[in-house]
Amino acid sequence: MKRNELCWCQSGKKWKKCHYPQENPNFRASLADEYWKKYKIRIKTEDQIKGIKAACLLNAQILDAVCLMAKEGVTTKELNDYANKLYKDAGAIPAPLNYGHPPYPASICTSLNEVVCHGIPGPRVLQNGDIMNVDVSTILNGYYGDCSKMVTIGTVSPDKQLVVDTAYECLMKAIDVVKPGALLSEIGEAIESHAHNKDCSVVYQFVAHGVGVEFHENPQIPHCRNRLRLPIVEGMTFTIEPMINAGVAEAVIDPTDQWTATTKDKKPSAQWEHTLLVTSDGYEILTPWTK
Ligand code: MF3
Ligand code: CO
Repeated sequence: MKRNELCWCQSGKKWKKCHYPQENPNFRASLADEYWKKYKIRIKTEDQIKGIKAACLLNAQILDAVCLMAKEGVTTKELNDYANKLYKDAGAIPAPLNYGHPPYPASICTSLNEVVCHGIPGPRVLQNGDIMNVDVSTILNGYYGDCSKMVTIGTVSPDKQLVVDTAYECLMKAIDVVKPGALLSEIGEAIESHAHNKDCSVVYQFVAHGVGVEFHENPQIPHCRNRLRLPIVEGMTFTIEPMINAGVAEAVIDPTDQWTATTKDKKPSAQWEHTLLVTSDGYEILTPWTK
């Protein structure tokens, strides 16, 4: 929003005289208080940020290592086993294991082709032409990191390559929106407009989220167009993780395992994810995986 516009908080004051981001530490403390009381959004302290950064860095390293192992002939269970070893060696805990209801039964998610997210590792052998999202989430010293990226196996079809590339571009365009004073709705706007330019659709049933002290914190951040006029403030840590489909936007959850989400029309889907810290003038990517 602009400095002279009326503040989003409905005080009737100009933004620059109200919630405009300021250097003053008292302002920071009172804003953190307000975000907690009104929205249950945690503005992180310096100590929390240190812990979250370490968890995120380790998480990105595990993701990169697991993805290097993703080759034709390897099973997704083998990737999960390898991730378990890496978590253990680092003194960390896999956040997905036993998470939610019913408890998620593995340590990472491996979502192939038409699987939108929350694919459960198993006996499936990676084949030439597959695309796969690998999603890793780590708990280190009580702090959380969350990120994911796509791998392609051998030669993939043009429609699969299109969702893989478009989902990456959507993530990066959305990240570029992030700075104090920008509205959370600008994230979904950036994603949906780019996806539509590429004739792709945006999954609306799963959202990005605050992360760091817990796995899934407020705010929930939609990747599709929305009216969430909530200003981003310094010290927030959250993910952006757009799921982009080649066909229809709708995802269907497997009624048996109650986790695996698949595109309704079985066309391919792709997702990339970072955890971000909001800084005084923009953002820091806390999960620097290599593309
Ligand atoms: N990045 C994914 C998410 O935030 C990680 C899912 S792990 C699971 O939903 F345990 F929830 F499956
Ligand atoms: Co996430």
